[in-house]
Amino acid sequence: MKTILSLAIPAEVDTECLAVVVLDRSEKDRGAKDKPEVTAATNDGAVSAAAAEVIASGEVSGKLFEATLLHRPSKLKAKRLLLLGGGKTKDFTSSELRKLAGVAVRFLKPRGIRSLAFIAPEGIAAEEAVKAIVGGAFVGDFDPDTYRSDRKDQAVDAVTVVARGDQARLQRALDEARVVGESQNLTRDLANEPSNRMTPTILAERACKMAQEVGLKCEVYGAEKIKELKMGAFWGVAQGSDEPPALIVLRYEPADAPATPVLGLVGKGITFDTGGISIKPADGMEKMKYDMAGGAAMIGAMRAIAQIKPKVKVIAVICATENMPSGKAQKPGDVQIAMSGKSIEIINTDAEGRLVLADGLCYARQLGCTHLVDAATLTGAVVVALGYVNAGVFANNDEMYERFRQALEKSGEKFWRLPLDEEYKESIRSSIADIINSGGRWGGAVTAAMFLKEFAEDTPWIHLDIAGTAWMEEQKPWIAKGPSGIAVRSLVEFAKGFAG
Ligand code: BES
Ligand code: MN
Ligand code: ZN
Repeated sequence: MKTILSLAIPAEVDTECLAVVVLDRSEKDRGAKDKPEVTAATNDGAVSAAAAEVIASGEVSGKLFEATLLHRPSKLKAKRLLLLGGGKTKDFTSSELRKLAGVAVRFLKPRGIRSLAFIAPEGIAAEEAVKAIVGGAFVGDFDPDTYRSDRKDQAVDAVTVVARGDQARLQRALDEARVVGESQNLTRDLANEPSNRMTPTILAERACKMAQEVGLKCEVYGAEKIKELKMGAFWGVAQGSDEPPALIVLRYEPADAPATPVLGLVGKGITFDTGGISIKPADGMEKMKYDMAGGAAMIGAMRAIAQIKPKVKVIAVICATENMPSGKAQKPGDVQIAMSGKSIEIINTDAEGRLVLADGLCYARQLGCTHLVDAATLTGAVVVALGYVNAGVFANNDEMYERFRQALEKSGEKFWRLPLDEEYKESIRSSIADIINSGGRWGGAVTAAMFLKEFAEDTPWIHLDIAGTAWMEEQKPWIAKGPSGIAVRSLVEFAKGFAG
């Protein structure tokens, strides 16, 4: 999808479709006597006038995500005018704007309209608006329809953002948002692929292809190196599968970056999670193809970082393998020695994500990472705790968490911090080894994080549990059902924050 910046007067923009946000300025909530006072969020009188008639008819309420398409709007160059309800003026932020850009794209796609021009609304700083519109348009443009012969040609080809302000700054914001949007969609594409078409080997190939395109170093190691590094926890999971595992390392080491900090991004790359010998029920097991969404998020983030070029070193480590039951598979009760030397009693082979991450975190530290972030579809328990709205974030260091919180403000993604009190450690004590790999049912997201904490050791670390948010269970007006690409935007902002 092409992205274009226009500083023209909206009425003068020659486009298939001009999109404008309409807001309800009335203060009181619905139900109260106050009548809606709907107006277009633009200073362009011609656009407001073109929208006025349909607004006056009462057909347009300004309700959030309402979309109304007008043909041949009078006194505008555009062929069509799309009115997008943004809700109440006082509640309208860049988060609503991002979603509205997705709504616009998803409204126009099935109607065969291939391009649009979106007016940056008054009331949101221009650079922020450009970023939200472009980012939201990419989110809306993605459909997981690769394997559907009937829907292949449906995409929007070009989005123009009509804004006012400093051209160079706005262009930079637009270019960066395009890079991040494309990268988030790469992550979604990887997560969407079924496990027969996204083996650890294929994931590694896709990572290397991306690396070549953007000028990153990519190394891929197989079973031999995993054993040589004494990654007993990672290998314990991989040993049960006929598909070879892949340890993927992506390096962004710009010459102008200081020697430290080195940011380490560690991703869970389980290309299919059957549960292993502790096998999962058949119902819903097909969804476990996206158990590599954390790894895919790291690949997407690295793609964006390579192009945005913050002055900070970043290394991604993705531990990719299937989790399969077989005659070679690890069994409950087995003890594995992790790369760090810690012994792990395997209570449940379905708690495999923390095993591959334990060695991934240890390896990232060995590679010189001074700050660690991992992302993983780690636990069903985080879905019980936070549902599908917020992802979980854990931190062993308040400064790291604060940096991440600041990144969230910029990315607009929703994460909620969960605790890591020492008391939880009791649940992962083993009678025969240093630690067990499952803390049982209660506080499952926390005990999984406590397990990882043991392998981050004294390195500042953040853990993102995206099990509930990496996959949209239902379509929304701004996003298709399927992989969400969660964490990519925040990881990019986080890396930028480290560059000062
Ligand atoms: N990949 C799953 C977690 C998951 C659940 C991801 C739902 C996406 C949606 C993970 O490997 C797993 O199986 N976790 C177990 C841990 C338990 C055995 C301690 C779980 O959450 O049930
Ligand atoms: Mn599992
Ligand atoms: Zn898993």
